[in-house]
Amino acid sequence: MSVNNKTVWLTGASSGIGLALARQLANQGARLILTSRREQQLEELRQSLPNSEQHQVLALDLNQPEKAKETASAALKNTPVDILINNAGVSQRSPAMETDLTVYRTLMEVDYFSVVALNQVVLADMVKRRNGHIVTVSSVAGKVGTKLRSGYSGAKFAVIGYMDCLRAEMAEHNVRCTTVLPGFVHTQIAHNALTGDGSLRGKEDQDNASGISPEQCAADIIRAIESNKAEVISGKGMSKVAPLLQRFFPGLLRKMLANR
Ligand SMILES: NC(=O)c1ccc[n+]([C@@H]2O[C@H](COP(=O)([O-])OP(=O)(O)OC[C@H]3O[C@@H](n4cnc5c(N)ncnc54)[C@H](OP(=O)(O)O)[C@@H]3O)[C@@H](O)[C@H]2O)c1
Repeated sequence: MSVNNKTVWLTGASSGIGLALARQLANQGARLILTSRREQQLEELRQSLPNSEQHQVLALDLNQPEKAKETASAALKNTPVDILINNAGVSQRSPAMETDLTVYRTLMEVDYFSVVALNQVVLADMVKRRNGHIVTVSSVAGKVGTKLRSGYSGAKFAVIGYMDCLRAEMAEHNVRCTTVLPGFVHTQIAHNALTGDGSLRGKEDQDNASGISPEQCAADIIRAIESNKAEVISGKGMSKVAPLLQRFFPGLLRKMLANR
């Protein structure tokens, strides 16, 4: 399904992969609903896009999924959504033994529960219209657990399982479900990652800085939507092959990750 002339609700639109997606989707003729916390940033983005009057801003804090669901349900009551892209997310850089339980909860709220909540805003209408597409950006960390990401990986593993179940349930209703697994992408993700006490890490890391560009990842996501892929990995090098190693050589991968 082409994105041209489709209404696309995109979360995490203010930065990184979401920002690149917003630009590419607008260039390809989609009407956008732009979501993240930073309303001013989203408004400036909206005004910079082609056909700016067709797009709208819907600021939500996805750390509060129930409230986000309520606000979005009211705001989108008369706006049928063709494609929802659950892209917003927050990462982590802290050892399991030194991470507050509140940090685990935040990671689950933003990276897991918000996906469940926003999907509930659009699914009934998609089922009624027998048309729609749910896209969720998980991570290679949702297939392969590495050091310092126990909460992030937990949430990203969980959302893959949720999307697998949803895909099975939605098949008879013609609602498509795509899960995206980026490897390392050069965005603000490491900068915005939570440390053990919940404060932001505040700096880049080499893995993400040497990853693919957000534009390349966004192009992979749009291709996956157009070709109705169930699951797609977007990345290069080790971060792209890690899920294959996990599947076929799990012992070897475990040794490599423990020594990393
Ligand atoms: N970059 C990578 O290497 C990589 C790898 C695998 C998976 N991913 C996934 O890709 C997705 C996009 O990440 P990115 O790399 O583009 O990171 P990013 O540059 O840090 O962007 C994250 C986006 O999520 C939004 N967001 C964060 N917390 C939010 C909240 N509480 N409520 C609403 N919006 C929130 C941010 O907007 P505001 O700050 O304006 O709220 C921002 O637009 C995430 O799901 C991430 O886990 C990234």
